[in-house]
Amino acid sequence: MSEQVLVDFRETDFDGLCQVSGRVAVLIAADDRPGAIVRRLDRKMRGAISRALANGAWAKLKVAEALDLKFPAGVPAEAVQLVKLPRKSTGIEARKAGSAIGRELGEAGVAVLAANHPRAADVAFGLTLGSYAFSQYHTDDKTKKGNATFHVDKPDAVRAAAAPMQAVAQGVCFTRDLVNEPANVLTTVGFSDRLAAMRDLGLEIEILDEEQLEKLGMRALLGVGQGSESPSQVVVMQWHGGAKGQAPFALVGKGVVFDTGGISIKPALGMEEMTMDMGGAGVVSGVMRALALRKARANVVGVVGLVENMPDGRAQRPGDVVRSMKGDTIEVINTDAEGRLVLADVLWYAQERFKPAGMINLATLTGAIIIGLGHENAGAFSNDDTLCKAFLKAAAAEGEGAWRMPLGPAYDELLKSRIADMKNSCGRPAGSITAAQFLKRFVKDETPWIHLDIAGVTLPPKATALAPKGATGWGVMALDRLIRDTMES
Ligand code: BES
Ligand code: MN
Ligand code: ZN
Repeated sequence: MSEQVLVDFRETDFDGLCQVSGRVAVLIAADDRPGAIVRRLDRKMRGAISRALANGAWAKLKVAEALDLKFPAGVPAEAVQLVKLPRKSTGIEARKAGSAIGRELGEAGVAVLAANHPRAADVAFGLTLGSYAFSQYHTDDKTKKGNATFHVDKPDAVRAAAAPMQAVAQGVCFTRDLVNEPANVLTTVGFSDRLAAMRDLGLEIEILDEEQLEKLGMRALLGVGQGSESPSQVVVMQWHGGAKGQAPFALVGKGVVFDTGGISIKPALGMEEMTMDMGGAGVVSGVMRALALRKARANVVGVVGLVENMPDGRAQRPGDVVRSMKGDTIEVINTDAEGRLVLADVLWYAQERFKPAGMINLATLTGAIIIGLGHENAGAFSNDDTLCKAFLKAAAAEGEGAWRMPLGPAYDELLKSRIADMKNSCGRPAGSITAAQFLKRFVKDETPWIHLDIAGVTLPPKATALAPKGATGWGVMALDRLIRDTMES
């Protein structure tokens, strides 16, 4: 797993800053005259800061962007990084600023001069996310990163504000690790081992094996995994932080640890990206970790279906008919439309067992959602306007793109099968919607529900504001906020 950068907070200490041999980052509130400590540092650096701030290059920078003064005179620091961040910035801007600091972080660490900036905790949050690196398989590991020390005027207050945010950041990084991990390491069992280790955080974790899944009747899920050497598993994670007896909120994740397509095998080009097909399960796991770390006052259950979709002599065939736990039969037209088969059983199980107050599932479900929304927004499909609005609001507040897509009976018609209750694939038109419509058949009318198709946002082709190229952990922040805003206040 990736190594985490340690972030701590201390009282602003000018002499300490002047001895830092690593990097120094200075938050410059562009709407204000630099504070007293910055002016003192500037004098020590023989006016280098004021010259930089008077330069056109600084004026051109956007909020949250930064400028590096390398090996400056007067101080031993490797570099002094000037970070543009007005005092009245948003949390999202402050996180981006922190990410800009985190990206540049080197072995010698960084001291961040935040003084009395009101967004210091958000900057720290962004720094943790921006310094993330998945580098354990680089034998000659050049990306080892030192720690971050924030110099602030009220360290206790900032530390208290930062603690729950750091918990969420740890959740995001846990998700990124799971998604970045190759499929020979993160097998179904490798995945559930990491979830079992979260018992130490106070989560109740159960791992259901194939025998138990068979007894429950989860033939739709089991059919997907039957060509793999890795056993299929369902992992249930419970966080009991709310009132006793209060119905939990349910999070459900698609955890296909590798998706070859099965007998309907995928083309070779780009198939290696299908290590991310457990991204939905990864987000659910990251949220559960964040909730436990910040001791959320809510009851939440996470249920993930872990399977591997492989071609094999025992693999499921196109044309096979399977019976789901709900009892409905499914004709498997295309073994590559496997995510909906996994989710059908896990969604049903979550409702039967927990009678949740609401349910959100996440899945890298369709390539079609990338055609529709690209890598900027996840697709949101819902049977409940109130829940959907609350989610979209939380996602917007966290800077995680999500866009609502339609459902409707006309799309449902397309799922009709000649020989079974439904088929799992019905061609290219509205591919993401028909997949959502399939899932809806396994959602009870009384359960407020959202399906998030995260195929485009889980592993985008380039770095984002808060993540290096690779897994983003999209959704952990939005779901954590949704739980905080709707269940804990
Ligand atoms: N895991 C894929 C969807 C996917 C594609 C995720 C690209 C991330 C990036 C899913 O299991 C799949 O193969 N879907 C098919 C469905 C089709 C066979 C109906 C697809 O999108 O082509
Ligand atoms: Mn597939
Ligand atoms: Zn898949």
